[in-house]
Amino acid sequence: MQASEDGQIAVSARGGVMTLLIDRPAKKNALTDALYGELSDALEDTEQDAAIRAVVILGAGDAFCAGNDISDFLTMTSRQGSEGQSEAQVFRFLRLLGSFSKPLLAGVQGRAVGIGTTMLLHCDHVVLAEDAQLSTPFVSLGLVPEAASSLLLPKLIGHARAFAMLAMGAVMGAGEAREAGLANAVVAGDSLEDAVMQAAQRIAALPPGAVQQTKALMRDSETIAKVMEAEIEIFAQRLKSGEAREAFTAFLEKRPPDFSAF
Ligand code: COA
Repeated sequence: MQASEDGQIAVSARGGVMTLLIDRPAKKNALTDALYGELSDALEDTEQDAAIRAVVILGAGDAFCAGNDISDFLTMTSRQGSEGQSEAQVFRFLRLLGSFSKPLLAGVQGRAVGIGTTMLLHCDHVVLAEDAQLSTPFVSLGLVPEAASSLLLPKLIGHARAFAMLAMGAVMGAGEAREAGLANAVVAGDSLEDAVMQAAQRIAALPPGAVQQTKALMRDSETIAKVMEAEIEIFAQRLKSGEAREAFTAFLEKRPPDFSAF
């Protein structure tokens, strides 16, 4: 099936496992406001559905997720923060990720950029394909980290490696990501979905109350929420900066950015 360029989140459920497939392969599964809305709706529905014991996030095509749609970012640079204006769905999705009570899993192939990587920090089980490449080039876009990654990534991999990723845009390959504790396993690309679904089925067969309480004990959701709010405030300001506008315009014009005027 050929997805439209706008894409969709294809939601399916089987055996207590909900799968959310980011299905916008022509744009490397870059997430638009509408797709964040669909992801958020699905997560909210799942919280209410006792039959769903685990949620798996997948991406269609050769990339897991190229991060936030940069055309959407550009639109956000010119939005005025007027009262009554509906909040960007990306912030709704981030908050839901940080507070989600059920086990989250991801199967990642190819590029995982920006939120494509930072959402993995909120997953409880991550399987990578051998060609997975994780990166968080926030600074080169004139932005700052989000999804509490300014807290979670240094905690996991140490300040120096986290700075290389969050500030300098270093790309981490699958093997290093598993060694660093960002993922459970690296598998051949054609086994990715099976591997992550098997893990999800194992989790779905466990006593759900004990699983959710264990997750809650392991994650300091209060601190995560505080860090996310602090990041969101600065991120929203950065979105309106000249630096960010130049970075987004350069990407869309397929040219290198020029920050010499700043
Ligand atoms: N927002 C909007 N469009 C995006 C996108 C994004 N985040 N990522 C990819 N696309 C689009 C490209 O513009 C291109 O569109 P086109 O076919 O109309 O020209 C299409 O998706 C394919 O991407 P392309 O760059 O040709 O693929 P690639 O395999 O050479 O590179 C990436 C893949 C992910 C490395 C590269 O697209 C990229 O760097 N994307 C931006 C990532 C990013 O900075 N995200 C924001 C993080 S906060």
